Amino acid sequence: MKFFIDTANLDQILEAKSFGILDGVTTNPSLMAKEGIKGADNIMAHYRKICEIVDGDVSAEVIATEYKAMIKEGVALSEIAPNIVVKVPMTVDGVKAIRYFTENGIRTNCTLVFSAGQAILAAKAGATYVSPFIGRIDDMNWDGMMLIQQIAEIYAIQQYDTEILAASIRSSKQIVEAAESGADVVTCPLDSIKGLFYHPLTDIGLAKFLADHKKVNG
Ligand code: E4P
Repeated sequence: MKFFIDTANLDQILEAKSFGILDGVTTNPSLMAKEGIKGADNIMAHYRKICEIVDGDVSAEVIATEYKAMIKEGVALSEIAPNIVVKVPMTVDGVKAIRYFTENGIRTNCTLVFSAGQAILAAKAGATYVSPFIGRIDDMNWDGMMLIQQIAEIYAIQQYDTEILAASIRSSKQIVEAAESGADVVTCPLDSIKGLFYHPLTDIGLAKFLADHKKVNG
């Protein structure tokens, strides 16, 4: 399973990269706004900076909602760097745009996916990634992880190439569950990635190893 970080914060991206396990980055308009990035030129420049830090895929989302405008914006985003993946919302125009991008060699991430039916449409249109939003489904008292399992089963039966990118992750536990459920990729906040490192028995065990070594070696 690939690990993406879900942020537009350059320091967090650098920190995640320093762990040696980072495969890519996802952003969305809310995450860009959180960093105070505004105006088309600044947005493009910020994506360029992220692509200079990370070799793996960087999802950059279109703001346009109408087909022709999505194509124009997506083409411009794809020209920023070879590792840009154009993120497109799951709408009728979005699916049509994904089909256009697929036929023109532009990789895509179909975002805002909340059902297996939507995931089938994304795969049919040729999306590189499909992003089911786990946390937001759980927030509605449904089971986000069940959706990952369902999509994984369908994609295996139908032999779709689209990779399942578990998004809207809120905890380290969900990362493990996404791996169990058949996600190809998980995108998560830095804290959820860091949470995977820690176990009290690791700390206790290491302290004992070092104490035993010190007893003999001084
Ligand atoms: C990533 O691609 C998604 O935009 C993101 O994971 C959404 O997360 P949220 O539900 O925490 O906003």
